Amino acid sequence: MSVSPQSQTGQETPSPFEPQGIKARYKPPRSIIDPDRTKGWIRRILPVVLAHKGIFITSLIFAFIALIIQIAIPRILMQAIDQALVVRKSPLMFFVWLLLGLAVARCLFAYAYRYLLYRTAYLIEFDLRSIMYEHLTRLSFSFFDRVQSGQIISRSNSDIRALQMFLIFGPFITIYMLTFCIALGLMLTIHVPLAIVSLLPLPLVYLVALRMRQLMFPISWIVMGRMADLATIVEENVTGVRIVKSFAAERHQIKLLARAAQALRWAALRQINIRATYSPLMENLPRLAMALVLLYGGYLAIQDRVTIGTLVAFNSYVIMLQAPFRMLGFLMMMSQRSAASAERIFEVLDTRPEITDRPDAINLNDPRGQIEFNNVTFSYADGPRVLSNLSLKIAPGETVAVVGRTGAGKTTLARLMARFYDTTEGALLIDGKDIRALTLKSLRAHVGLVLDEPILFSVSIHENIAYGRPNASFDEIVEAAKAAGADQFIRELKDGYDTIVGERGYTLSGGERQRIAIARTLLVRPRILILDDATSAIDVKVEQEIHEALRNLMHKRTTMIIAHRLSTISLADRVVLLEDGRVAAEGTHAGLMRTEPRYAEVLARAEEEAGRQEIVTKVETDKEDRLTKAGVGGLEEVLKEVADV
Ligand SMILES: Nc1ncnc2c1ncn2[C@@H]1O[C@H](COP(=O)(O)OP(=O)(O)O)[C@@H](O)[C@H]1O
Ligand SMILES: [Mg+2]
Repeated sequence: MSVSPQSQTGQETPSPFEPQGIKARYKPPRSIIDPDRTKGWIRRILPVVLAHKGIFITSLIFAFIALIIQIAIPRILMQAIDQALVVRKSPLMFFVWLLLGLAVARCLFAYAYRYLLYRTAYLIEFDLRSIMYEHLTRLSFSFFDRVQSGQIISRSNSDIRALQMFLIFGPFITIYMLTFCIALGLMLTIHVPLAIVSLLPLPLVYLVALRMRQLMFPISWIVMGRMADLATIVEENVTGVRIVKSFAAERHQIKLLARAAQALRWAALRQINIRATYSPLMENLPRLAMALVLLYGGYLAIQDRVTIGTLVAFNSYVIMLQAPFRMLGFLMMMSQRSAASAERIFEVLDTRPEITDRPDAINLNDPRGQIEFNNVTFSYADGPRVLSNLSLKIAPGETVAVVGRTGAGKTTLARLMARFYDTTEGALLIDGKDIRALTLKSLRAHVGLVLDEPILFSVSIHENIAYGRPNASFDEIVEAAKAAGADQFIRELKDGYDTIVGERGYTLSGGERQRIAIARTLLVRPRILILDDATSAIDVKVEQEIHEALRNLMHKRTTMIIAHRLSTISLADRVVLLEDGRVAAEGTHAGLMRTEPRYAEVLARAEEEAGRQEIVTKVETDKEDRLTKAGVGGLEEVLKEVADV
């Protein structure tokens, strides 16, 4: 499939079927990732870096100037010693002022390059995140079925971080190597044999640095991983505190925590051991070089073949030469990790959404709400058939209850209506139009789904209800809440409609969440309303009230209710029994009870299951996300290394 650049930058004109009202100044990413999969990863990502080339190149130039000044300083010191101190040919103050001036200039350039370099890093990171996030919002449900959410989060966090670091650090170290060459050239013009002697320890520096990194890198990952494990246990203790206490499992949890802490301690001690071994070595290798220079240079100086100034200058240079060598090994390791990260990111970006608007898709305007499943066969990805040759017609304004065992495919039916998936065979028609010929946004604007897991966002109840119509008036929101039987309990909350819903709506009960979810969908006034087990956790008495309100609302719209409670089913004009992937029987509730033994059986069993059902809070843990929070490899770490030169 061809890839339009739009699919990565999200510069589409807003559709009238989207929620309107939220305003944000939002700059789309400046560039996109090259969709050509045959190219290497650096070339594919290059456009994102080049989009910020102005600021990036400026920062590199400033870095270059700062480094050049740094190289010039020993040279000037050499002249000062030789000409102002030894022979007293030039005035000393001239050199003092010159050095002072250079130091100030270097400060300014170092500030500027660092500021700009960080800025570039964050600009690139912002773009990468935007590209990733926009793409994720466009991907179809099948993708999210397949890929774990932790994976997705880690790809949009740590992997982007790793990539950003390499993209910034790579060119920076190139500049560094360049200044290395210049310093070397300068040394060679001063004294060739002494310059060569200064180079001798460099391979050793490189090898020691490489060895240290090789040992440190995996162990630091282990340390980070174990920190994440520890954090996971702590977090689960906090979020799962009700479960821990209800099983009286506090002691068990403490043991778990202690075990994780011990594992972390082991790894941390290993890391400290490596650092303690290699750091003094790394710190003192320059002294070896200095000793060499002193030995050979001193010998030359005694014979008057080099000046004292030269000796002093070389002392600075030998130290300066080592920094790029130390970082070279690091860069190589980073490039390996970045390549892996890039692959993981591209894997997501290269996934094409399966469900998209056809080029000739038309908007669904003011539908009457007639629904037709025409010989629909469906299976998820490679799974078994869920629906086979299912046919069902629902008239405009009709209310149909769908009944079936757990796993019969009721939710699947609802998902197909909103085109979360495409049918494997057969077609789904609204007002006689194949839904694949309609724009997704207009289709979904008219098909209102209340799902069985009422996910709320961590914002106020007001905002949660207004999610699909952010500019709805307060009265409209209250009206929707009333219809969903939510108004009363919301008003009883301390902050009323401004109450912020806790983490994953935790502070509300399952039934309360369901009522807010119903209000949220009702506010959009969809022509087609689907309630998928949407009242299962609501008190029977409250449900009656909701039904009262729903009866009025359903009157004008086509409604599909998936339920097993008799009270709910009684709302429907017609009941459909789903079995073996097709409509096994249909009729009125009373009629089916009389003629269809399977129907009575399904209802009885569903009632039983509902009694057993518990609300399980899923504790989502994301190790990788916490890895990023723990601060794995930042630009700062890299710059720290540069800073002490
Ligand atoms: N996202 C999915 N990926 C793969 N299989 C699924 C997915 N969702 C549901 N299924 C399977 O499809 C079947 C029908 O599920 P569902 O429509 O949720 O049933 P119901 O709502 O009637 O309980 C079940 O066997 C279920 O395991
Ligand atoms: Mg279901």
